[in-house]
Amino acid sequence: MAYVVGICSQKGGVAKTTTALSLAGAWAERGQRVLVVDLDPQGNLTLGLGFHPKQMHHTLADVLLNATPASEVVLAASVSGIDLLPANKNVHLVERYLPSRPHYQFVLKQALEGVLPDYDIVVLDCPPSLSVLTTLALVTAHLALLPTQAEYFSAYALKPMLQMLQRVRERYNATLVYRILLTMFRRRNRAHRIIRARLEATFGTGLCRTVIETDTKLREAAIAGLPVTHFASKTRSAMQYRQLAQELMAYVQKESIAQTA
Ligand SMILES: Nc1ncnc2c1ncn2[C@@H]1O[C@H](COP(=O)(O)OP(=O)(O)O)[C@@H](O)[C@H]1O
Ligand SMILES: [Mg+2]
Repeated sequence: MAYVVGICSQKGGVAKTTTALSLAGAWAERGQRVLVVDLDPQGNLTLGLGFHPKQMHHTLADVLLNATPASEVVLAASVSGIDLLPANKNVHLVERYLPSRPHYQFVLKQALEGVLPDYDIVVLDCPPSLSVLTTLALVTAHLALLPTQAEYFSAYALKPMLQMLQRVRERYNATLVYRILLTMFRRRNRAHRIIRARLEATFGTGLCRTVIETDTKLREAAIAGLPVTHFASKTRSAMQYRQLAQELMAYVQKESIAQTA
């Protein structure tokens, strides 16, 4: 059964979509079958895989609101091994209309059940808010990956995120775990180094050992509609995202061994 990773933060611009795309690329090139789900009405992930959100006939909104089977909406990306459940601005309607339904928190989890056997990994790219869509992702995920910049305010923003995670854990998803990912890190920046040390001291192993440094190739990759692993295979951020993909996989394997033991 596929392992589900939700990429969440209520802050925009912390590299959620970039991380979703790059991790998907890193896993796909290792032969994993990856489904990426765009939960953001802005459709950046959809765009980042070379599709135009406005031209999508069906999106995640149909899956969540009209019970259209996910298998009918999923598209094959140009990158071998990556499928996409696309989004456009219609996904915004989910925020308004879904909560009137009983047990709406489980709608995404149930909607994906039919396609999970087709994949090894599912990556959920959340919008920048602690809203209905992020709730759906946290209820569905095994692991929440929380990207943060090495800026004081970004690190500070982790608190409401972690509080929400705790609420979801108590009510809907008791086994949900999280990892914090430091992104857009600059080694030569003293403030960045201080914040990294503080995050390490506060979160210990809750902080990913892999750190993603700033790299303009990531912006170019998004414009080209490709994960950086496929756009500029040897660039620093491609290497770092590969390392992150391995770090997370090693963690998942350890967990599954622990559960079956
Ligand atoms: N490590 C990085 N170095 C340089 N630019 C980055 C990096 N990660 C992301 N970006 C850029 O920062 C912007 C915001 O990233 P994005 O992934 O869209 O964030 P979010 O999904 O959290 O809003 C994008 O233009 C992206 O290309
Ligand atoms: Mg985004």
